[in-house]
Amino acid sequence: MNLRLATVDDAIGMQACNLQNLPENYTMKYYLYHLLTWPSLSYVAEEGGRIVGYILAKMEEDVGEDDEPHGHVTSISVLRSYRRLGLAKKLMVQSQEAMATIYRASYVSLHVRKSNRAALGLYKDSLGFEVSDVEKKYYADGEDAYAMRLSLKN
Ligand SMILES: CC(C)(COP(=O)(O)OP(=O)(O)OC[C@H]1O[C@@H](n2cnc3c(N)ncnc32)[C@H](O)[C@@H]1OP(=O)(O)O)[C@@H](O)C(=O)NCCC(=O)NCCS
Repeated sequence: MNLRLATVDDAIGMQACNLQNLPENYTMKYYLYHLLTWPSLSYVAEEGGRIVGYILAKMEEDVGEDDEPHGHVTSISVLRSYRRLGLAKKLMVQSQEAMATIYRASYVSLHVRKSNRAALGLYKDSLGFEVSDVEKKYYADGEDAYAMRLSLKN
């Protein structure tokens, strides 16, 4: 298993992995935008040339006057047969470290479905994220999202 920084050459593999794992899908242009604009924030787990997990992340662009620079996880997933091996946690930690050291991000944010037990376990129990807000009907099918944050300050 090779865990490494994602490049533009990984965009197709990341999109394929996303399509297998999540109903929230993105255009190729959006993957490339992330990879070209914040080339140090997205990572992949690769086995035998196949992307089996990825994190697609960015710095938040719409930062208000009172807000501090912060990172945002756009999408993360791991193929079913590679789950519970610690891959998602490693991908998250790598990206968080880059957000903090390269972009001086003071925190990282993300959205998660209220019903997503595995992701909530990862974010809350394993990484220490806290719920900052509930966004009603955030998802296309009407489900609410938890907006979550983790401080990156020591
Ligand atoms: C959520 C997801 C990315 C986790 O990936 P993973 O590689 O299996 O996660 P890890 O092995 O790194 O797990 C780290 C910790 O997260 C928690 N966790 C992971 N899966 C869990 C589950 N099914 N139930 C409860 N807690 C879970 C545990 O605390 C775990 O630590 P442990 O294995 O020592 O108990 C994966 O289940 C997935 O791809 N799901 C579909 C896509 C998705 O929901 N993405 C998130 C959208 S917000």
